[in-house]
Amino acid sequence: MIKDGRDIGRTQFHCEKGPIVIEGPVTGEYVSGLEFDERLNNFRVARKQKDCLCEIADSPDGLLYIARHFNTIIGYVTFHDPDPLTRWVKHPKILELGAVEVSPSWRGQKIARHMLRLAFANPLMRERIVITMEYCWHWDLEGCGMNLWNYQKMLTSLFGSAGLMKVSTNDPEITEHPANVLMARIGEDVSQEMIDLFDMIRFESESC
Ligand SMILES: CC(C)(COP(=O)(O)OP(=O)(O)OC[C@H]1O[C@@H](n2cnc3c(N)ncnc32)[C@H](O)[C@@H]1OP(=O)(O)O)[C@@H](O)C(=O)NCCC(=O)NCCS
Repeated sequence: MIKDGRDIGRTQFHCEKGPIVIEGPVTGEYVSGLEFDERLNNFRVARKQKDCLCEIADSPDGLLYIARHFNTIIGYVTFHDPDPLTRWVKHPKILELGAVEVSPSWRGQKIARHMLRLAFANPLMRERIVITMEYCWHWDLEGCGMNLWNYQKMLTSLFGSAGLMKVSTNDPEITEHPANVLMARIGEDVSQEMIDLFDMIRFESESC
């Protein structure tokens, strides 16, 4: 469970439903040996999602943090290099927070917050600009019993607790819907040159 020579971080706490371990970055091999809550299916069916998580965990720049109840994964957060088809790939310091999900029966107990806190305690985050592209068509409005705007508020507050802030962009995938948001956290050790490049990429013209 070591990634790039770094020890994994681990915290434990008790929520209403029992003990939870938050840990990461974990390897695909470690995840393969755990059960996966079948309600972790917001993005794709649970079985496929588990395979995707293993791939991310084992990719060179991928980071996977999990929330575990005994032997079962009940939540996760992923980080990976930006999609090569997007503008963000042109920036050498950008890491994308790809997804955060907590199984419906475990939500509202600060599990997502704890996972983000542990992930952002990784010293690697100091050197990176972490972005998350929040597309409203991925949101589980029904499962959370929230309307679009309350859901957006919940997510921006959740990511805000980890130091991400809303930033503007002309990326058409974000501007496609007014509820979509781009959020970013600039690590303490990121140079001004890299910050300027990020600002430029946020507003680059389509022809670039
Ligand atoms: C978004 C998600 C990961 C949050 O997980 P969670 O473990 O329930 O979140 P937390 O318990 O840490 O709560 C985070 C904040 O959201 C609020 N919140 C969570 N669920 C809520 C609900 N149903 N109604 C109102 N507020 C809610 C919490 O009060 C908390 O805010 P606070 O700390 O200011 O009180 C979870 O709802 C989920 O898996 N959704 C589906 C996938 C998704 O939309 N992912 C985000 C896009 S990648």
